[in-house]
Amino acid sequence: MAKLLWLAKRLVARWLEYDAPLPPKPTELLMSETSTTAPMTILPVTTPTVTPAVGSTEVGSYFVSNYPPFSQWQSEFVPEILSTFAAEPNRDVSLGLYLHIPFCRKRCKFCYFRVYTNQNASAIEQYVESLGREIELLGQQRAVSGRQLQVVYFGGGTPSYLSSKQLLFLRDTLRRTISWDHAEEVTFECEPGTLNLEKVKTMKEIGVTRVSLGVENFNDAILEENGRAHLSPEIFRAYDWLQQVGFPQINIDLIAGMIGETDENWQRCVEKAIELSPDNITVYQMELPFNTLISKEMREHGVTSPVADWPTKRRWVSEAMDRFLSAGYQISSGNEFVKSQMTDRFIYRDNLFRGTDLLAAGVSAFGHLQGVHYQNFDRIEEYQKVVLEEGRLPINRALRPTAHQSLIREFVLQLKEGHLDAATFHRKFDVDVLTEFAEPLRNQEAAGYLEVDGDEVRLTRRGLLQVDSLLPEYFEPQHRQVRYT
Ligand SMILES: C[S@@+](CC[C@H](N)C(=O)[O-])C[C@H]1O[C@@H](n2cnc3c(N)ncnc32)[C@H](O)[C@@H]1O
Ligand code: SF4
Repeated sequence: MAKLLWLAKRLVARWLEYDAPLPPKPTELLMSETSTTAPMTILPVTTPTVTPAVGSTEVGSYFVSNYPPFSQWQSEFVPEILSTFAAEPNRDVSLGLYLHIPFCRKRCKFCYFRVYTNQNASAIEQYVESLGREIELLGQQRAVSGRQLQVVYFGGGTPSYLSSKQLLFLRDTLRRTISWDHAEEVTFECEPGTLNLEKVKTMKEIGVTRVSLGVENFNDAILEENGRAHLSPEIFRAYDWLQQVGFPQINIDLIAGMIGETDENWQRCVEKAIELSPDNITVYQMELPFNTLISKEMREHGVTSPVADWPTKRRWVSEAMDRFLSAGYQISSGNEFVKSQMTDRFIYRDNLFRGTDLLAAGVSAFGHLQGVHYQNFDRIEEYQKVVLEEGRLPINRALRPTAHQSLIREFVLQLKEGHLDAATFHRKFDVDVLTEFAEPLRNQEAAGYLEVDGDEVRLTRRGLLQVDSLLPEYFEPQHRQVRYT
């Protein structure tokens, strides 16, 4: 009897933690509001901007990385960002640079980034040349000149796909144009199979401080089934080189819910990650945005989702959290774990979540300058033509959020860190977020996703495990049903 009771309690606890329904959404209100103020890209009211993450993993975006949704950024606002580049900036705002390298050895079946495979050497060389030219153009802007970069982020695609020579070229171009000698953090994303000792040494030479290695899984059959270009021996080899050369921070990425994932294998992955003992571990829950190969199969051929459902993925992440905590890691956000909150800061993320300036370089790259969001052209041909032939910044779309939208942006992004302080928002925006967002906070507190304690909003474990799906409730009504990307 006692055992039965224990089992029942455990089942209820599990259900509560991983599979609770979302807090009530004011659907009727949404319908009337969207029907009067519907922007052009609005979808039927039944399509939420990010997936609610209940039940099976269907096609849709889950991860929230910005606000207002990208679909709302428009080419008609490009003059606004160009005039911001041409104006005197607030120089007290910290400056960062994101560089996008869109090449990969192979397109992973789950990937939603703008990437190109099978490009020949001269195409890559031309892209690197365009990137160099774009950096020069950026350096000439009044809003940039004379400022120093605090952070640089080489993202992709696969930055480690570039040769040592190309990396040194980019470093030298940067040195001549925008000062990065005092950058506190230089992050560099790598796919294990693209590294060799010489390249790792070059990464160190150009100033990389934080290496992010796309491990994803340690099981060869799963890596293969998901279309990864690397297998597990390449992970261990790459990791040895990284340790041999030595970097202040090494991060590894894992994905919970790759095709073929099982309870046993996931546990093994978590143990292997702990054995490697990286400074940071990032765990993504597998999502299927519209442009992945898996999503295409599902939409065009009616294939059922080959990915574990949301409650299972949340349970895997929760179990990983327990294990990482017992191995000495600390929770730094809903999907990031660090050995030490004091030494393993991720300045790029912290700045991004707090609206500092971030220059974007490269095809499809996103940036933010003095309060204006922008994105570059997302086709390589157009991007290169504008930079190389026309000699102008390759910006495709932009948006200046209202003060209220900037408040929402910082509120939802910082909520992803698991806790936030209302007083900080009061100082910055002169708004009491506890009053401003009283209704969603009350709903989510009642549903067990968060607690409000004085000035602090703190997510519970249950909230942390599905934080992205909680965020649209803070969005302005017209943004809750538009496509996210
Ligand atoms: C640009 S990649 C990292 C560098 C390199 N391209 C690689 O994959 O090794 C960024 C990370 O996004 C994550 N990612 C990509 N597609 C995803 C998806 N559909 N769901 C969840 N995470 C995803 C992966 O963990 C990947 O490591
Ligand atoms: S996950 Fe990484 S390696 Fe795979 S296609 Fe995307 S960017 Fe390339």
